[in-house]
Amino acid sequence: MINNKIIVAIDTPEEERLSELLNDLNPDLCMIKIGSILFNSLGRRSFDLVANKGFNIFFDIKFHDIPNTVAHSILSFKGYPINLLTVHISGGMSMLTRAREAAHAIKSKVIGVSLLTSLDQKDVEKVFFNDIRKVADNLFDLAKEANMDGIVCSAHELKYARTNIPNLLKIVPGIRLSSDNDDQKRVMSPGEALKLGANHLVIGRPITESKHPNAELEKIYETL
Ligand code: C5P
Repeated sequence: MINNKIIVAIDTPEEERLSELLNDLNPDLCMIKIGSILFNSLGRRSFDLVANKGFNIFFDIKFHDIPNTVAHSILSFKGYPINLLTVHISGGMSMLTRAREAAHAIKSKVIGVSLLTSLDQKDVEKVFFNDIRKVADNLFDLAKEANMDGIVCSAHELKYARTNIPNLLKIVPGIRLSSDNDDQKRVMSPGEALKLGANHLVIGRPITESKHPNAELEKIYETL
């Protein structure tokens, strides 16, 4: 059975490491996230390398620019095997609308990034002059008004997302199996995040830095 609940974030600039991970991971058990580290080093080749191994692609490039620039950047990916791509919700209504039209024209879903999971309350207050709850709620409302297909949010905001935007996909990074001490601040376990309503979990280093990435992936499914 194909299970795409877990999206493995392959954040490496090296093609050799990418290939090792793609050879080890089972495409029936995960999607692959191509983000700025992989994309900025290997470019568009990375889509073929990943798709040729049978994986679906989450292109987490987080577009954030004026509407025209974002729309044409997205349209330039016509013909590439992208299933989901991301834009920052804080880009505003016009940008989100143009991004949605462009993403659908290239047959990708469009996902709005709300607040980075590496930000804590203090960071959010400094950037947005408000608390996490209020900022997240506003961003969720905007994503809904702009008819996004889904959002990226921390597991801690899922309870508000579940009521405000029940029909949007919820993609959740900041997943940790134990309390690892890295740059992620608002973390949660995979099982808890799914219980709270996540549709997909984005998991990077806990899988990619383990000795046996696919075995780790299977272990995570067993905990669910
Ligand atoms: O290695 P780790 O599990 O922290 O990877 C999480 C992935 O999710 C990273 O690739 C990061 O860029 C991405 N991400 C995130 N927080 C967001 C959006 C995306 O951590 N709000």
